[in-house]
Amino acid sequence: MNYRFRRYKRSQTLRESLAETDLSYKHLVYPLFITEGKGVKKEIQSMPGIYKMSPELASEYIDKLQNDGLRHYILFGIPKNKDEVGSSAYDEKGPVPSALRLLKEAYGRSIELYADVCLCEYTSHGHCGILDSDSSVNNDKSLDLYAKAGLVYAQAGADWLAPSNMLDLRVRSLRQALDENGYTDRSILSYSAKYSSSYYGPFRDAAESSPSFGDRKSYQIDIRNRRLALSEVLADGEQGADAVMVKPALAFLDIIQQARQMTNLPLYTYNVSGEYSMVKVAVKAGLFEEKSIVLENLTAMRRAGADMIITYHAEDLVKNQWLKD
Ligand code: PBG
Ligand code: ZN
Repeated sequence: MNYRFRRYKRSQTLRESLAETDLSYKHLVYPLFITEGKGVKKEIQSMPGIYKMSPELASEYIDKLQNDGLRHYILFGIPKNKDEVGSSAYDEKGPVPSALRLLKEAYGRSIELYADVCLCEYTSHGHCGILDSDSSVNNDKSLDLYAKAGLVYAQAGADWLAPSNMLDLRVRSLRQALDENGYTDRSILSYSAKYSSSYYGPFRDAAESSPSFGDRKSYQIDIRNRRLALSEVLADGEQGADAVMVKPALAFLDIIQQARQMTNLPLYTYNVSGEYSMVKVAVKAGLFEEKSIVLENLTAMRRAGADMIITYHAEDLVKNQWLKD
């Protein structure tokens, strides 16, 4: 057979029509780092172009972005006070509930708001749950606190609760708490296949959430594992997750592809801080043209099977009009 594949590549018109993967603003979720107080807007050193902001400035900040089509936002809190049990995570006056109330009031149903549910940004020791006297993370006691936080966020207006803590049965207990309190209309996006990854470095700098001792290997997934990740995806679906996630994205495209084949739930991936900052640094060093490298990375995640991508690049895409709609 005389293969002539170049016939498919003849013109821009034909290439556009035959492209098998699309990427647009509706596929993107933009992370927001929320501080306490008022009038705070400070660039995060390890993540060029990303700011931590107080609730009212965050609301102002996304005004034009949401108008231009960026409609999904996930909120992380950076509290003033951290303690052993992460009290600020379930304080209704904390940064995330305050921002949720303002954003919902301003934008209502035109945006989807996700609240990250974890304790590591709020605990003095930086672990994702509370500790036993031997300093191990106590699974079931932590679940009660995630449920407590989840209810506070739901009441403040979160459309989605996104438990990122990787403790067992987090989805089941959160679903039960939501349902019992009348929040049957709120969704759960579980960080299902969340690996123990070095790519979270810049985020931990931003959130000052590095564990003060040890690591997260007793709850996040070992990077050598594939079947375990898929088991966790399936288990979260069975516990009532409305959507599942693979995180990070670029070094785990194989997991995205296989998760896509195994579950019929919407699949998210998290293009994490380290993946973002590597691109930013390389672009600054003149190694790549930013638009093309960003589009290549995000397109790869969509091609692997992700429905939605949480990415710090979202703002650049919208501001510079790198995508059509
Ligand atoms: C922790 C959490 C992490 C991220 C979001 N929530 C990772 C971690 O510190 O283990 C990472 C996000 C990023 O790197 O962009 N629950
Ligand atoms: Zn955590």
